[in-house]
Amino acid sequence: MTMKHFGPTRLDATLIPKIAQQWGTPVYLHDQAYIENSCQQLLDMPNAFGLHVRYAMKANSDRTVLRVVTNKGLDLDCSSINEAARAFAAGVPYARMMLTTQEVPSGEEREELEEMIRAGLKYNVCSTTQFQLIAEFAKSINLDLSMRVHPGATGGGESATRDTGSEYSCFGVHLNDVPTVKAMADKLGLRFTQVHVHIGSGGDPDKWRQNIDRELGFVKSYFPDATTVSFGGGLKVARMPGEKQADIASLGAYAAQRVQEFKEATGRELQMEIEPGTFVVANSGHIITRIIDKKLTNELNFLIVDGGMELLTRPLLYGSEHPIAIVRQDGTLLSSEYDCKPTAALKSFGIVGRCCESGDSVRLDNDGNIVPVLISEPEIGDYVVIGGTGAYSESMSPENYNSHRKPPAVMKTRSSELVLIRKKQDREQLTQNELDVKL
Ligand SMILES: Cc1ncc(COP(=O)(O)O)c(C=O)c1O
Repeated sequence: MTMKHFGPTRLDATLIPKIAQQWGTPVYLHDQAYIENSCQQLLDMPNAFGLHVRYAMKANSDRTVLRVVTNKGLDLDCSSINEAARAFAAGVPYARMMLTTQEVPSGEEREELEEMIRAGLKYNVCSTTQFQLIAEFAKSINLDLSMRVHPGATGGGESATRDTGSEYSCFGVHLNDVPTVKAMADKLGLRFTQVHVHIGSGGDPDKWRQNIDRELGFVKSYFPDATTVSFGGGLKVARMPGEKQADIASLGAYAAQRVQEFKEATGRELQMEIEPGTFVVANSGHIITRIIDKKLTNELNFLIVDGGMELLTRPLLYGSEHPIAIVRQDGTLLSSEYDCKPTAALKSFGIVGRCCESGDSVRLDNDGNIVPVLISEPEIGDYVVIGGTGAYSESMSPENYNSHRKPPAVMKTRSSELVLIRKKQDREQLTQNELDVKL
């Protein structure tokens, strides 16, 4: 293979040994230009009466990533008050955040939440209980609320584990309960000025379109005060060859038309909101690992690399696939799954990590068996680069399992500089909260 650049960020393979030598392996790598470009695509989404884009920061909550995204003009959706506090510490004002969470905290954290809301944090009510817990406070400061509605519709996720609108998923006020919560709010004089639905992390544009129709239907029936309608996240990126990326222009055109029709039917102009995580960061990220062992057996060939499920848990959790590139120690690109079709010259290897788990692999089938990857055969010391790892990798992984330390993260800046954005975890950090007690 004579190619030098690979993957959606056109990553220069000669950088891989340089990064590995400077910061060690494993290491997370991000690409500022890619993130900015995906933000811009989202900001350019067609719309009828205005568009507001929130980045679902659970996808990657690193402060540098948050700064890149918010400097481009995206606001944030936070899934806990810790995420909100973290974004604030990164310099993002609370007025640019919405909280979509499973809990209304109590005690000290409740006080923190109220301070955040007073400072402008938008509260997205996700259950009847949440409404009851927040209502008096909301009334006391005349707070307009958002409501996350559970639409009772399946198929919004790529797997059942990411299908957040189905009957097996508990997120949001269930449609049946909406009239009750609305009646309680009316009694208190509280308004829902925003309606929100997130049907999951999926790939089916038809489901996304159906959600728009359904959601506008219940905005019309139940939410006379709503001025903003959020269609959630779930915009797919093509991590693997053959996958189809969400067509932002066409989805936006559909949404714009429906919101326009809503205006014609009701006289109301709704601002549209979207809340992607994956689309913003997934393909900006790579994990660089080094091959530390190689075993050729009768059943399967194995490459053992110095990072696996503790850095990227999606394959184990969802059966998700990530494209593999093989780079030699001198920076030669041996093979790239993202860019090239499999050829006879390739050999199959199960790629496994260092954790004592048979499921610690970058590719697994639905039963948890390792699926071999077709690659050019590398040597011990060469690099396995895992693509599509910018989202739900470092923010989601069981990172200290087997007491491995969270690796450093590097950002390739717009001017192609390589900057360390997070240090490798110290060994002391693994145990710093443990107490020496006498039993
Ligand atoms: C409430 C909410 N909004 C947005 C997202 C982002 O989804 P995606 O990364 O598929 O765009 C999620 C993901 O879990 C979510 O829970």
